[in-house]
Amino acid sequence: MRFIITEDYEVLSKKAAGIIAAQALQKNDSTLGLATGDSAVGIYKNLIKLYNDGFLDFSKVKTVNLDEYIGMDMNNKQSYAYYMKNNLFKNVNIDMANTYIPNGLVDDLNLECKSYENHIANLGGIDLQLLGIGSNGHIGFNEPSETFKMHTHVVELDERTIKDNSRFFNNIQEVPRKSISMGIGTIMKAKKILLVASGKNKAEALLNAFYGEITPKVPASILQLHHDVTVIADKEAEKLISEKISK
Ligand code: GLP
Repeated sequence: MRFIITEDYEVLSKKAAGIIAAQALQKNDSTLGLATGDSAVGIYKNLIKLYNDGFLDFSKVKTVNLDEYIGMDMNNKQSYAYYMKNNLFKNVNIDMANTYIPNGLVDDLNLECKSYENHIANLGGIDLQLLGIGSNGHIGFNEPSETFKMHTHVVELDERTIKDNSRFFNNIQEVPRKSISMGIGTIMKAKKILLVASGKNKAEALLNAFYGEITPKVPASILQLHHDVTVIADKEAEKLISEKISK
């Protein structure tokens, strides 16, 4: 596990984009596992800049996203499909046929989960998975639970996640209650993992995930068992860890 501490979100975003860019440069047909949320916006801005400056070519890159709300059309501004299109895909030369996001609109959601899992396997697995972390320790939409859910699955969102994500909606009632998410096993099979955390709202989750016991009650804690994890946290997110270490 590598920990990189940055002064602020801006530096975090540059460094994380650098790691993703290095992956795409070393293997131009990489499969990138992508995340949504505020934490990833700055990373995508930096990737777009690297593309515009001629450093990056997305023409052979493939992407698989972590999650999507159930029942949300991709034209809905709150959908993760809309987020990806606007924050990254439409600004780079990626082939949209090479981008995959779970489809939360199908009738048979279990079949969609199975197909998504098969699809990732058929791509040869994920070369680098980008993760944010929820304030409750979730990764993707793997919520705190009694067991780790291994495969892509349908999730009942946690009350804390609904509250956290309500900032993107007009009111809390509009936040979907269900989503499809890659499982913990799907994520753990990625060859490399890059987790980013910014701000004091993430400090407790980060401490519990990387300096606490490995438990499905803190889903990100499983990452302690992965062989190639880089965590980039800004000072505010990392604060409780440095306080614990200095004791
Ligand atoms: C969301 C997403 C996650 C994301 C996390 C943190 O609910 N499902 O994939 O990483 O929560 O989001 P943010 O970066 O906005 O804090």
